[in-house]
Amino acid sequence: ISNFTLTMIKPDAVSKGLTGSILKDITDAGFSIIALKLTSLTLTDAQRFYSIHQGKPFYEDLIQFMTSGPIVAAVLKKENAVESFRKLIGSTNPDQAEEGTLRKKYAESTQRNAVHGSDSDENATIEAHFHFADREIFFCL
Ligand code: CMP
Repeated sequence: ISNFTLTMIKPDAVSKGLTGSILKDITDAGFSIIALKLTSLTLTDAQRFYSIHQGKPFYEDLIQFMTSGPIVAAVLKKENAVESFRKLIGSTNPDQAEEGTLRKKYAESTQRNAVHGSDSDENATIEAHFHFADREIFFCL
């Protein structure tokens, strides 16, 4: 089990000024931020990042949404990070997310759901390298 995961604070949350609150919740939950940037996805980036969802009914809207404004990308370190972080963010649909989860607190809808978390160790590695060069990831932290 790897000890890191990749998160994105999505355009809905960044544009509402929630970045600081969300990062504080993440570190309060015991994650170390070992890479961090305010950035954005081009159309090509978003199509590449979400290629697994191509053809699904929500795909086009998802690409449109994720390229609509700045995002924050971060690599988070903690024991059992992928599973632990998915617990912290809660269900994709905020109406089904547990009390205290990031999506319960900050998401608007199933699409505009404030936060992304990698769904497997394999994807955490792919997604971390999608956003960051090796020299930008500090496993010493
Ligand atoms: P995430 O799990 O981070 O990555 C895939 C995204 O697609 C998901 O967050 C939502 O933003 C979006 N998504 C997933 N399922 C749906 C759905 N049924 N309707 C709209 N958007 C969705």
